[in-house]
Amino acid sequence: MSSKTVIPKHIAVIMDGNGRWAKERGLPRRSGHQAGAESVRECVEACSELGVDFLTLYAFSSENWNRPKAEIKALMKLLERFLREKTPEICERNVRLQAIGRITDLPESCQKALSEAIDRSSENTGLTLILALSYGGREEIVDGIKSLIRHLDDGHIDRGMITPELFSKHLYTRYYPDPDLLIRTSGEMRLSNFLLWQISYSEIYITNKNWPDFRKQDLHNAIEDFSKRQRRFGGL
Ligand code: FPP
Repeated sequence: MSSKTVIPKHIAVIMDGNGRWAKERGLPRRSGHQAGAESVRECVEACSELGVDFLTLYAFSSENWNRPKAEIKALMKLLERFLREKTPEICERNVRLQAIGRITDLPESCQKALSEAIDRSSENTGLTLILALSYGGREEIVDGIKSLIRHLDDGHIDRGMITPELFSKHLYTRYYPDPDLLIRTSGEMRLSNFLLWQISYSEIYITNKNWPDFRKQDLHNAIEDFSKRQRRFGGL
């Protein structure tokens, strides 16, 4: 990485192509997810090393609940195992774990592993790793509107105070800056209901690699590409 490389403060990733990776190898889909968990580990390591402040990973979408029960179960098990096994490494790397989404939709054992990992890493001051779980961008906006209405009804705010900045404070992501760079793997050109509000000015990087093949060097390539972009935020 060159000395001129601009490191994004916040990287968000749509991790796609686990199923295709497995299919190409004649393996069950869950093997693709397992291999994808190793890419998660490597990306966390790389972001930590590079001094990225926030990494948000789209690990399970609201729409993923429509998958076959067996695949959902395998994904939840994998997530729980990842959290239990990797929390020591997360803490050693000074990574703080957070989650966004309708977390109460997750199986209880998963919720427990998640809240334990969040608690154990809460004092860490390095990379903040945010897992988007049972997450949908539209659902987040609807939940944000409900929260805003509650504040209006309680008299905490009045209508004249509503601005994009104020509304941002009612989203799941209220504690984090907007992503500078959005990465999507496996070549699809879609946002798939991910961080719809927050990526208004994010740079988008799409690679044809499937997520299980996306490793440290691929993250470096994405950051080098980001470095070359000129961000004008609608100005000149
Ligand atoms: C998309 O691939 C990926 C997912 C739905 C889940 C992402 C999960 C992981 C990377 C596993 C582990 C995650 C953590 C945080 C430990 P796909 O199944 O949609 O692939 P396809 O489009 O090729 O079928």
